[in-house]
Amino acid sequence: MTREDKLTSRDITRDLDTDFFAQTVLCYDSIDSTNDKAFRLAEQGAKEGTCVLAEHQKKGKGRLGRSWISPRGRGILLSMILRPEIAPAEVARVTLVTAVSLVKTARGFLRKRLGIKWPNDIVFQDQKVGGILTEMSAEPDRVHFVVVGVGINVNADPAALPPGALSLGQVAGKEVSRLDFTRAFLETWEKDYRRFKKGRFAELAAEWEEFSATSGRRVSAILSHRKIQGQATGIDEDGALWIRKDNGLQERVLAGDIEHLR
Ligand code: BTN
Repeated sequence: MTREDKLTSRDITRDLDTDFFAQTVLCYDSIDSTNDKAFRLAEQGAKEGTCVLAEHQKKGKGRLGRSWISPRGRGILLSMILRPEIAPAEVARVTLVTAVSLVKTARGFLRKRLGIKWPNDIVFQDQKVGGILTEMSAEPDRVHFVVVGVGINVNADPAALPPGALSLGQVAGKEVSRLDFTRAFLETWEKDYRRFKKGRFAELAAEWEEFSATSGRRVSAILSHRKIQGQATGIDEDGALWIRKDNGLQERVLAGDIEHLR
């Protein structure tokens, strides 16, 4: 990686078309986890829209206690502090909005049909190019802040990634500019987040369905000690996935992981 390839706060923010996203951007060479850093900053009162990025994470975190592996300088590792006025039960919606913005940006950039695997993996032909980890500080009926962590494989060699993972560069057939992608994503994301704040979540959920690589697929899901299989029929207003089992009964899966079958 040359110096010019490094993501810097100056390059990201120069003429960026946002009002409150990325007004403050902190870029680190190496850090434990951008989510942890953003969380600490939010606790200290950092404003909504503050972003933390890193070229490398020593303890990158994924969902469900997994780790997030990203070779140095080859991905986008970004955490955003948001302060939505919502209840903890609605936080999944913020993640869903982020997935919509991310896939929209990727489709616009690459002109390829990337999709969302429930709940919020960005995939191309069932291979994962990005993921989102949302963490929050809240009291029972009020969120103090959320940290939305986005990890995208951009130019990593697939051999350096976990099995089943892919980079945007492989999808495009050429290197993809991390800077241009980050900037485009931040602009799209702020617009979508504003719609969310204005109560237009239903529209964003409809976009999620449009981009869904899961709806209509045969899937399996593990629900507290039980495995179910069936056809994914769509998501509801909480971002929960509905699965029609082979016996015709519907099950609602609010959190966890699924597998696409066939
Ligand atoms: C997942 O698919 O499991 C979610 C992955 C989220 C990874 C990102 S990378 C930037 C941010 N910092 C972290 O430690 N994790 C998220």
